[in-house]
Amino acid sequence: MPVIGCEDNSVCGVELTTSNLIFFVVNSLFLHTILLFLFTVGTYTIRGRETIFKVIDAALKLGYRSFDTAAGYGNEQDIGLALKEFLPKYNLKREHIFITSKLAPKDQGEGKVRAAVKNSLSNLGLDYLDLYLIHWPGTSGLPVESSENSILRRESWEGLEEFFKEGSLRSIGVSNYTARHMKELIESSSVVPAVNQVEFHPHYDHPNELYNICADSRTLLQAYSSLGGNGVKTVLDDSTVIKIAQKISKQPAQILLRWALQRGYGIIPKSVNPERIKINSEIDFTLEDNDMESLNSIEHRQKYSWNPDNVA
Ligand SMILES: NC(=O)c1ccc[n+]([C@@H]2O[C@H](COP(=O)([O-])OP(=O)(O)OC[C@H]3O[C@@H](n4cnc5c(N)ncnc54)[C@H](OP(=O)(O)O)[C@@H]3O)[C@@H](O)[C@H]2O)c1
Repeated sequence: MPVIGCEDNSVCGVELTTSNLIFFVVNSLFLHTILLFLFTVGTYTIRGRETIFKVIDAALKLGYRSFDTAAGYGNEQDIGLALKEFLPKYNLKREHIFITSKLAPKDQGEGKVRAAVKNSLSNLGLDYLDLYLIHWPGTSGLPVESSENSILRRESWEGLEEFFKEGSLRSIGVSNYTARHMKELIESSSVVPAVNQVEFHPHYDHPNELYNICADSRTLLQAYSSLGGNGVKTVLDDSTVIKIAQKISKQPAQILLRWALQRGYGIIPKSVNPERIKINSEIDFTLEDNDMESLNSIEHRQKYSWNPDNVA
């Protein structure tokens, strides 16, 4: 997987535009950090020390250097222990990897955000995180239509800004933010979110408004549930996906991941199976324009994960 040490302006054929490069400089991140971040290992539902150790070991061995977790996944501690165990095995140091975690919806607001970030750092056994996201625009226990949601996520963002300025969060971002949530945040803050992590696959695309806001603010869109999500086979089994996979002798998962990359998204596939973790990294090929178009225009529309549209 040509991730670390890639020195040209592309990642597996995905062009990095001038505006992206300005984004990198503005955010003081090294190009190779962004390149390794585009291929991230998802860890939602991966629990139990033995399984986590197996996944982290396999992923590091294959060249993955970026891992996505969340306070809500209940696996930060085991991921921290696994990194301690396996980084030396592959001659790696903390600065060679990229760790993302997320603020749980129950910890939104001024009164909770600081303790929550410290807890994630302590669970992972790290002095700093490369990226920390507000997991969800709403707050647990509040009705979705309550205007309190907006106040609390604003306070959370201000809390994350403090850690960002102190340096213990190297970059900060959001997740599941719609165009409306993004606009509200950008209009009220001088720190622009580095990332918006959102559900994205050929059955669930976004309105142009979200793309345009993220492009204008240099916020990288990162796709989750690219394969449809845990235990969901509908996207992997889509006849258009299967047809293209058979035509070019690839796996359906590789088609879906490559499609997201060519659409300009970062990817975070999750698997507990080392063979699949390997398959998911082998996407150094290009989907032709007509195949991209076929995937873009699949008629079946379905969202498989939680829906933030109605969160005030
Ligand atoms: N911010 C958010 O709100 C949010 C929400 C959901 C997810 N995420 C992040 O995004 C990551 C990925 O999303 P996801 O976990 O929803 O699901 P996903 O990556 O779309 O799909 C995972 C499912 O696909 C299977 N799979 C993996 N590789 C495969 C392959 N090559 N061929 C066939 N099946 C394969 C996995 O099974 P096995 O494990 O058995 O291989 C699992 O059932 C999460 O782990 C998490 O880090 C974020």
